[in-house]
Amino acid sequence: MPPGGADNPLRVAIVGSGPAGFYAAGHLLKAKDVEVQVDVFDRLPTPWGLVRGGVAPDHPNIKAVSRVYEKTAAMPGFRFFGNVDFGTDVTHDELTDRYHAVMYAVGAQTDRRMGIPGEDLAGSHSATDLVAWYNGHPDYRDLEFDLSAKTAVVVGNGNVAMDVTRMLVTDPEELAKTDCADHALEVLRESQVREVVVLGRRGPAQAAFTNPELLELRELTDADVFVDPRDCELDEHSAESLESEGTMTARKNVEILTGYSATEPTGRDRRIDLRFLVSPVEILGEERVKGVRIVRNELHRGNDGVVRPEPTDITDVIGCGLVFRSIGYRGVPLEGVPFDERGGVIPNEGGRITDGGVPVLGEYAVGWIKRGPNGIIGTNKRDAQETVNAILEDAAAGRVLDPSDPDPDSVEALIGERKPDHVTYAGWEAIDRAEREAGEAAGRPRVKLTSTEELLEAAREKVG
Ligand SMILES: Cc1cc2nc3c(=O)[nH]c(=O)nc-3n(C[C@H](O)[C@H](O)[C@H](O)COP(=O)(O)OP(=O)(O)OC[C@H]3O[C@@H](n4cnc5c(N)ncnc54)[C@H](O)[C@@H]3O)c2cc1C
Ligand SMILES: NC(=O)c1ccc[n+]([C@@H]2O[C@H](COP(=O)([O-])OP(=O)(O)OC[C@H]3O[C@@H](n4cnc5c(N)ncnc54)[C@H](OP(=O)(O)O)[C@@H]3O)[C@@H](O)[C@H]2O)c1
Repeated sequence: MPPGGADNPLRVAIVGSGPAGFYAAGHLLKAKDVEVQVDVFDRLPTPWGLVRGGVAPDHPNIKAVSRVYEKTAAMPGFRFFGNVDFGTDVTHDELTDRYHAVMYAVGAQTDRRMGIPGEDLAGSHSATDLVAWYNGHPDYRDLEFDLSAKTAVVVGNGNVAMDVTRMLVTDPEELAKTDCADHALEVLRESQVREVVVLGRRGPAQAAFTNPELLELRELTDADVFVDPRDCELDEHSAESLESEGTMTARKNVEILTGYSATEPTGRDRRIDLRFLVSPVEILGEERVKGVRIVRNELHRGNDGVVRPEPTDITDVIGCGLVFRSIGYRGVPLEGVPFDERGGVIPNEGGRITDGGVPVLGEYAVGWIKRGPNGIIGTNKRDAQETVNAILEDAAAGRVLDPSDPDPDSVEALIGERKPDHVTYAGWEAIDRAEREAGEAAGRPRVKLTSTEELLEAAREKVG
């Protein structure tokens, strides 16, 4: 009999507790006519992935999506094993021995590099690092950011670039009302950054910002936004593609940016300069960043129809003391799991993992590690449905693993021995309570605990 009956529930391990992992758990536990048990593992003591460690502190409403995940965690058949790193604390074979299906939901854990000289100078950082630092991710809390420079350059035209830009020009006293990590607030209070120059390698019509994020810059009380009107004069390729296949978002972005270009500055203390059609070619400086050499680009339409930047011979230098590259995240390989180096994803067909084009029995991928580092939180809900449908279909057809040790207690015993300080869901609820209580006293949504030791100590309070 295929698994899924009352006496032989379909047992699924999900590695990663971000949106993708949680949406998948929810879809599985809500599946009709199938008995499912889901164990979710995360390397951190805390769940929610980038909802906790990525979404900007000044976007509390977006973080409220975790309420949906809390409902999933309350469903019968759900267990959480936090502080358990796949590859170190539990291996591929240990999971395939204990579950009918294993789903990887590990997101994209590193960043893309620009590959230009000077990228490793002091003062040149990845946005990934800054984001994880201001959000209190335990692995990043000890990073040091010297914000004594007046000008920072942010490379990239995506929403992460917008987050980083806002964080650099927002009054720290406004951030002090959020869940921004205390160590970051301390440094941001001393920040001398007054100007952020954002570099897009293509034009306004190709920017990856979404409209609300771009519009939000206007709401910043401390910063004026500058766009050169000449950058808003679309070249023939942009005008044509906007007209023929442009999305509503792209059209509206051009409209918003054109609006910015016509707005008179109001003499605010800080400024955001959105520049287009320029690429950094070298980061200048001997020990620390002193500037960025940029080249002017022109757009060309390739045979595949994609409008791409091509450098001209016009160059310029922007003097600055800080550079944040915000050009995308990247997945990392997992021990024992196929990996597509080029795409930085686990190769899969509709969520079913493949190895050299051949399906791998009982193994699945979801979220950013399945499709690459793109899409908002909600995108992962649909994406998780696709992977869950594949699992349910495979389970019904008996095309899943036949675990040698399917007893749920066996996992508890293994993790209990391997990682005695793992965090259960009740442990996370204790952390959550402690953070919220600390926040309440300070008029903030929460005060984040940012070291693994502090988090584990708070998790232990569940029994006290
Ligand atoms: C900076 C930033 C801000 C964003 N802001 C927004 C926003 O405001 N609104 C919005 O809609 N979308 C936002 N997004 C997009 C959204 O966060 C993603 O679509 C979503 O988080 C991807 O979900 P995921 O589950 O695939 O990955 P993740 O959220 O990254 O979750 C992956 C999880 O896997 C765990 N993990 C990794 N490796 C292991 C391992 N070896 N063992 C065990 N566990 C592991 C991680 O700890 C993590 O908890 C933002 C993205 C970024 C980068
Ligand atoms: N508030 C929100 O909803 C929110 C907040 C943050 C993130 N997110 C989502 O999370 C996902 C990831 O965001 P992201 O900002 O990391 O990625 P992204 O949206 O893919 O944007 C990456 C940007 O980097 C540029 N880029 C890539 N390589 C470059 C290079 N070598 N030199 C210069 N520029 C380069 C890209 O330009 P090209 O287009 O020319 O390649 C693009 O503008 C997105 O889907 C985003 O919407 C959402």
